Amino acid sequence: MAARETVLIVGATGNIGIAAVLGALRAQLSVLAIVRNQTSADKLFQHIGTQQYVTVVEADITSDQGVQGVVEQVKAGKLPSFQHVYAAAGGAYWTTPLKDLSTQALREFMNVNFETNFFAYRATIPYLLEQNADNSSWTLCTGSQGDLGLRAAPAISQGALFSMASAAARENVETNIRFNEVYLACRVEVDESAEKTGAMRASRFADHYETVLSRPEIRGCRISVFGDGDLRELRCETKIKNPG
Ligand SMILES: NC(=O)c1ccc[n+]([C@@H]2O[C@H](COP(=O)([O-])OP(=O)(O)OC[C@H]3O[C@@H](n4cnc5c(N)ncnc54)[C@H](OP(=O)(O)O)[C@@H]3O)[C@@H](O)[C@H]2O)c1
Repeated sequence: MAARETVLIVGATGNIGIAAVLGALRAQLSVLAIVRNQTSADKLFQHIGTQQYVTVVEADITSDQGVQGVVEQVKAGKLPSFQHVYAAAGGAYWTTPLKDLSTQALREFMNVNFETNFFAYRATIPYLLEQNADNSSWTLCTGSQGDLGLRAAPAISQGALFSMASAAARENVETNIRFNEVYLACRVEVDESAEKTGAMRASRFADHYETVLSRPEIRGCRISVFGDGDLRELRCETKIKNPG
């Protein structure tokens, strides 16, 4: 039997991260989940209802050395090697208007919502290239707030993630890594919360990642999710607008 592949998940304990964990487990992958602390790890296990095939590691994803330290532990054989990455760090969602956004608040916001995902990319891509596994993948969750601009700071951070996804899609055109952006245009919450608010349940949103993992031809794409109908029949559009 083929060895079970592993996905490293950044932001694993959030609404989207929980969905990614569930999707990966359904796709028969193991999970290496980066958590902030033991409380977050407990929250993760409570939401997914199992500890089987899930390894947790504590790291500060807001630091430029956080995910790098996890990769070093993987290289040293202290943690399972991984072939896939799903990044869904962030979640800060303040309403402060642009004109009132302090420098400190802006920097804090970009650190949590943008830099976390960038640091994860920079730390893991060299490892995936080095491993050179067939069909490695790197998936980034972004949100339509970046186009809507209803919440200033979340919008700015999503704009940066859109551009990062464009560059990453292009950088990996000819590598073993298929980079994709999941552009989420509806609200997803962990099941317990979604049942009260009417948001899409994380366990439902998990379907999108199971589908992405099962479709090796999807690479360099923005995969847009507007609702339940977009989780199995993926809406894909290339991120590489003007191939050079
Ligand atoms: N949920 C949605 O409907 C939605 C829609 C569009 C786009 N998105 C995208 O998905 C991202 C995540 O959204 P979400 O709803 O899953 O957010 P969330 O539930 O708040 O989860 C965010 C994740 O990032 C971690 N995190 C946040 N701040 C941190 C910090 N200072 N130090 C360490 N870890 C930290 C959280 O860890 P803890 O669990 O320890 O707090 C959690 O794992 C958004 O930023 C956005 O890019 C989400």
